[in-house]
Amino acid sequence: MDAKQRAGEKAVEFVEDGMNVGLGTGSTVYWTIMRLGSMVKQGLNIRAVPTSRRTEKLAREQDITLVGFNEIEELDLTIDGADEINPSLDLTKGGGGALLREKLVAAASKRLIIVADESKRVAALGRFPLPVEVVPFAWQVTARRLAEDLSCTPTLRLDAAEQPYVTDNGNYILDCACGEINDPASLHRALKLLAGVIETGLFIGMADIAIIASESGVEVIKAEQNIPRIEER
Ligand code: 5RP
Repeated sequence: MDAKQRAGEKAVEFVEDGMNVGLGTGSTVYWTIMRLGSMVKQGLNIRAVPTSRRTEKLAREQDITLVGFNEIEELDLTIDGADEINPSLDLTKGGGGALLREKLVAAASKRLIIVADESKRVAALGRFPLPVEVVPFAWQVTARRLAEDLSCTPTLRLDAAEQPYVTDNGNYILDCACGEINDPASLHRALKLLAGVIETGLFIGMADIAIIASESGVEVIKAEQNIPRIEER
């Protein structure tokens, strides 16, 4: 069993009968969804909110009951992947393009559990280019501000046909090389002040638990209780 599968499957231990669960996006949480699917077939009763069309399709195939925020107010927990995890459990997310819905779903959850393989663990965020979701109109202007005001190097994400990648929300993504991110909260706030920026892939103070797997085992890491939560929560 590979590390992503090990981490993804471990996370179902936190799911209890009757819970409302947020389902993240990506190749690690894929294993969580597959395992939840087999638990549902054996009688587990959960309702889930997907963070992307891709996850929605997978969850439907697994007979997991899906709901929207017109039906529920809050989620008991969300399980999702990450592109980078620092020692405070601050995250970079959005490699799969689902950062906006992932952040909204995480913000509506009592707990956020991150599943990842060991390669996602970093001393400081920033090696993985930071995904920033932007309004397509005048994205060039937003990109220029990002470069000139914040010294990041943005690259417009393209799809397989070399066309701008369009998110589930109809927006574009700028993958931003910003160097080592030593103060993720300041960078997040500065980015959010730029016209055209909808959301950033920085998830600060949101993760409660990280389940990180390697070939040799699985580690369950709890966030420090005293880390202040950011305004999204
Ligand atoms: C999607 C994400 C994913 O959670 C992140 O890219 C990790 O993906 P994977 O589990 O496939 O490595 O943020 O927007």
